[in-house]
Amino acid sequence: MNMRFVLLTPLFALILAACGGETEAPSANVMSAGGASAPSMSAQAAEGRVLFGECGICHQVDPSKGHRIGPNLYGVYGSPAARHADFRYSKAMQNSGIVWTEETLDPYLENPAKYVRGGRMAYRGQSDPEKRKALIEYLKTLTDETAGTANAE
Ligand code: HEC
Repeated sequence: MNMRFVLLTPLFALILAACGGETEAPSANVMSAGGASAPSMSAQAAEGRVLFGECGICHQVDPSKGHRIGPNLYGVYGSPAARHADFRYSKAMQNSGIVWTEETLDPYLENPAKYVRGGRMAYRGQSDPEKRKALIEYLKTLTDETAGTANAE
């Protein structure tokens, strides 16, 4: 798991670099960004980015990447559940009618199996409300809107 997190870190740096308006961030930016938090990211979101290490096993956050065990989460905040046509969501998720906001992400991340019964996310849940809040703040940053441009999706 640690290995995976280490591998993902440059990926986050790429996304931060992408805040400059570049969607296909050149690999050289990995060095200059260095994994430091971007000025636009709050301390809470930065904490969420670290906590996201355990989600990154299953979820990509780079919009140019595909899905893993779980769907790509770029732009998930504010979007309806099961929005990716090329990901095989559970029937439960497809029929949930959920829109991902603070109100829905909080109970889902606390206990995915309970909030979406029959759902497929094999994550035990985060019991600490502060950590869930941090994760949600991080998910909010996964959008072009933080760069002042329209969300591509
Ligand atoms: C073991 C793999 C796994 C882990 C770990 C995991 N997820 Fe998921 N996640 C999934 C799968 C699979 C789905 C699709 C669920 C379904 O179809 O019922 C999903 C769905 C989601 C969705 C809904 C996406 C959509 O397009 O509607 C969100 C949001 C989400 N996960 C966030 C997280 C966060 C945040 C974490 C870490 C705290 C996390 N997940 C950890 C596998 C995982």
